[in-house]
Amino acid sequence: MPRAYNFGAGPAMLPEEILQQAQADLWNWNDQNMSILEIGHRTPIFMELMEETNHTLRRLLKIPDNYEVLFISGPARMQFSMIPLNLISKKTQAGYLISGIWSATAFEEATKVSRAYCIASSEATQFKDIPDYSFSDFKENTDYLYYTTNETVNGVRFPGLPVAQGIPLVSDMTSSILTEPINVNDYGLIFAGAQKNIANAGLTIVIIRKDFLSLIDKSTLPTIMDYETFAKHKSLYATPPTFNCYLALKMFQWVEEKGGVDALYQANMEKARILYDFIDNSSFYYCSVQQRARSIVNICFNTKDKNMDDLFVAKAAENGLLALKGHNKVGGLRASLYNAMPIEGVKKLIQFMEKFSREYS
Ligand SMILES: Cc1ncc(COP(=O)(O)O)c(C=O)c1O
Repeated sequence: MPRAYNFGAGPAMLPEEILQQAQADLWNWNDQNMSILEIGHRTPIFMELMEETNHTLRRLLKIPDNYEVLFISGPARMQFSMIPLNLISKKTQAGYLISGIWSATAFEEATKVSRAYCIASSEATQFKDIPDYSFSDFKENTDYLYYTTNETVNGVRFPGLPVAQGIPLVSDMTSSILTEPINVNDYGLIFAGAQKNIANAGLTIVIIRKDFLSLIDKSTLPTIMDYETFAKHKSLYATPPTFNCYLALKMFQWVEEKGGVDALYQANMEKARILYDFIDNSSFYYCSVQQRARSIVNICFNTKDKNMDDLFVAKAAENGLLALKGHNKVGGLRASLYNAMPIEGVKKLIQFMEKFSREYS
């Protein structure tokens, strides 16, 4: 039976060939007569896997030597507090750009543990755009500018780097990492939860410039919350999420086989283009996110009659098109088109949308 297309925002679709390989490795990984789930994290063979995972990501994103790549157990939002705890010293503060639900939550968490201020917010537009701001909105001693490259819930993306006047950028790339090219040198810290484009949920990857490891006095920082601990111990201080790291390596190798991030970006742009074109030319569906800020991986849209949404989601599921309901904070519909979603899935969705609009308009 063919598998369904999963348009969920995360945990998201994984390539079939990786799921099949993982299935085999759950029985016998690398001729160890043991499952990948049972291998000790300090065995040479697992440590080799960690090294390879690290190096493959470094190759994919051209990560310079003055950055560490950390593999941290836990949800992406743990970084909402780890970042201010590690980066804001007694004399500094951090500025946040708020473009959707995730950056708003990150800001709220930062104010709980340290000093953070909002540079600008697009909440007044119900997060249908990225915020506008000027240099006068920056405060003194700002040691990083935080933003969310792609707001998964609101379908809003920064089309370029925010202007930061030399202040280091810190970015939540949970839903955009590996879907579009980046220049790591532009950032002090990047983080991404694994559950969209990297692996199964439970792993967060942090790419941090080495000088960011020791910005503050660590005397009251718990060891497990300190990025330096992860760097010093090659992410093996505590037991890492071993299966996620294994799956991350498989995904990084898959991205390389597909031609790397640039090739996937072109494919992602095309998938997004055909879906937005269809929506914009329809009298039944609409997308209210401003053109300049539209996400290329989370396409949020509505039907003209919101009572139709549940029926749309149910009928789509009957056709093998799953998880199209928008986030419950914003409602509507959302199609997530991460790296593993083939263009055939998007074409099938458009065909279904066409048919649904003919039947119910
Ligand atoms: C951009 C972004 N940041 C943070 C999160 C939070 O992830 P987690 O549930 O792993 O904390 C998500 C989840 O979807 C997200 O999309």
